[in-house]
Parts: sequence; C-alpha cells; structure tokens
Amino acid sequence: MKVSVLLSLLGVSFQIVAAAPAKHQKAAESKPSVFLLAGDSTTATQAANGGGWGDGFKNFTLKAPSFAINYGHNGATTSSFISGGDWATVLGKVEAYAGNSTVYVTIQFGHNDMKLTNYTETFKTNLRRMVADVKERNGEPVLVTSLSRRNYNANGTIADTLAPWAGYAIEVAEETETHYIDLWKNSVHYLEQIGQPASLKLALNDNDRTHLNVPGSIVFGRMVSDLLKWEIPAIGEVVKENATLSEQIWSGVATF
Ligand SMILES: *[C@@H]1O[C@H](CO)[C@@H](O)[C@H](O)[C@H]1NC(C)=O
Ligand SMILES: *[C@@H]1O[C@H](CO)[C@@H](O)[C@H](O)[C@H]1NC(C)=O
Ligand SMILES: *[C@@H]1O[C@H](CO)[C@@H](O)[C@H](O)[C@H]1NC(C)=O
Ligand SMILES: *[C@@H]1O[C@H](CO)[C@@H](O)[C@H](O)[C@H]1NC(C)=O
Ligand SMILES: *[C@@H]1O[C@H](CO)[C@@H](O)[C@H](O)[C@H]1NC(C)=O
Repeated sequence: MKVSVLLSLLGVSFQIVAAAPAKHQKAAESKPSVFLLAGDSTTATQAANGGGWGDGFKNFTLKAPSFAINYGHNGATTSSFISGGDWATVLGKVEAYAGNSTVYVTIQFGHNDMKLTNYTETFKTNLRRMVADVKERNGEPVLVTSLSRRNYNANGTIADTLAPWAGYAIEVAEETETHYIDLWKNSVHYLEQIGQPASLKLALNDNDRTHLNVPGSIVFGRMVSDLLKWEIPAIGEVVKENATLSEQIWSGVATF
C-alpha cells in the first residue's frame, strides 16, 4: 500500500518534472549569451605584435545567436586597460546587453603587469574593481589566469614566471566569490605534454614564445571554452562542441 502510494506519487511528479525541462530549456536557449573578452595581447586578435586565444574562442566555440567580442589590447596592464578607456567600453557593452542576454566578462591580465615594480597590490586592486564593476551591471565576471608562455627547460618542463600572477587572480576570485578558470595551469600542462617542437606550430612567428597564430588561437580558445563550461554549466548550452579537438587537448595530443 505504502509502496503503491509512493509509486503513484513518483509517477505524478515524474510527469511534472518531465514537462518542466523542455520549457526551461527553451527559455534558456532564447536568451543568448554574450562574452566580452577583456585582456592583454594573449587574448587579442592576431596582429603584427599580438595574438591570443580570443579570436579562436569567438570564431569557433559559440552557437549563434550567442557571440563574443574580443577587447584584448596589446601591451595592456590592468591599469592601462582602465585608464585608456577599454574598460569603460566593456562596461558600456555589459549595460547594453544585460537586458536581453546573459553577459559574461572574461578578465585575463598579468603578462604586462608582472613587468612593473611592486605591482602586486595594484594588480589585485584593479581586478577587484573590475569584478565589482561587472557585477554591479548585472554581468557575470570570470577571472582567467594568464596563458602560459612557451619557454621550455632542457628537461621539457615549462619555464614560466607567471605562476604568482595566476595565484593573485585566483586569490581575488576566491575573496570576491567570483568564477575563475585556471588557464595558466592548464596551458602549462598541455604545453609540457605536446612538447616544444609542436608548441612552435602555435606561435605567432618563429621567435615568439608569447603570442599565438591562428592554430594556437583555435587550440587555446577551445581550452578556454571547455574550462568555462565546466566552471559554469549554463555556458555548455551555448557552446558549439568540437569533441575531436577537446579530446586532443585534454589528452595532451598536438592538433597542429
Ligand atoms: C577569425 O575570423 C576572422 C574573420 O573571418 C579571421 O580574419 C581570423 O583570422 C579568424 N581568427 C581565428 C583565430 O580563427
Ligand atoms: C539586445 O540588445 C542589444 C543592445 O541594445 C541590441 O543591439 C540587440 O539587437 C538586442 N538583441 C536582441 C536579440 O534583441
Ligand atoms: C613597494 O611598496 C611598498 C608598500 O607600498 C613600499 O613600502 C616600498 O617602498 C615599495 N618598494 C619599491 C621598490 O618601490
Ligand atoms: C626541470 O628543469 C628545471 C630547470 O632546471 C627544474 O627547475 C625542474 O625541477 C626540473 N624538473 C624535473 C621534473 O626534472
Ligand atoms: C575541430 O577542430 C579541428 C581543428 O581546428 C578542425 O580541423 C575540425 O574541422 C573541427 N571539427 C569540427 C566538427 O568543427
């Protein structure tokens, strides 16, 4: 008796639960996501002196009508991105799109901030401000740790000095309860697995150990996409998958 009551209750609730997701999914699909990519040259569009993961992410990883805008600025520090007006542009877009879209702002700096003396506190203060600015405008900030440079030690490990800066970004993310993805750690791991000869095929030019060419942007754009959807499952609904590429990235096999 008790069991049959329970089963019929389950049956009823099953019907209700089964009907709900379709409706919910439709609502989620009808609201696109907009990704605003704030960062330095390791996010920026491929150019003479810069090139990051942003355009690979933007060109290949999103299902329309969701889209991304790449605001990566060559040479930018957190301070120059703010004082030079880029940040105001990004915030204007957050305000414009928050009404009809889910707006994510990825924030990745460190490559240029690390070159400045005594800059740790300024870096963290700027990141805290950026995160607060986005949240105030109903956007979702995501801190991204710096893409690794591709300098190798003789034993095949990555010789990278960005680790502390990745750590500061994570510190701010945790302190402000903000989403973050650890692009630094995952790019170091991937680069160590594929090795230096394969890493050269991702370089903007033969002597460049920092910036990415188009294949490099495609690989690390996909890495960012995968990390984002694992960190924020709702992003999975707007991602255009490439299972082959993701499989290669996460098993450390070179694609190019
Ligand atoms: C992205 O698309 C633009 C426009 O088609 C193209 O010029 C650029 O090379 C592409 N970049 C990447 C990384 O796919
Ligand atoms: C969403 O808002 C933006 C900014 O106002 C506008 O350009 C865009 O057309 C709107 N999108 C939709 C799907 O209404
Ligand atoms: C670094 O900052 C600290 C604290 O603001 C200050 O006391 C110190 O003099 C600075 N050092 C340099 C080299 O600028
Ligand atoms: C590889 O070489 C670097 C630089 O000499 C060293 O710091 C590191 O400990 C080495 N790692 C391994 C696993 O041997
Ligand atoms: C996945 O990415 C690789 C590398 O860019 C590309 O050659 C392939 O066509 C992509 N596959 C799909 C289904 O988009």
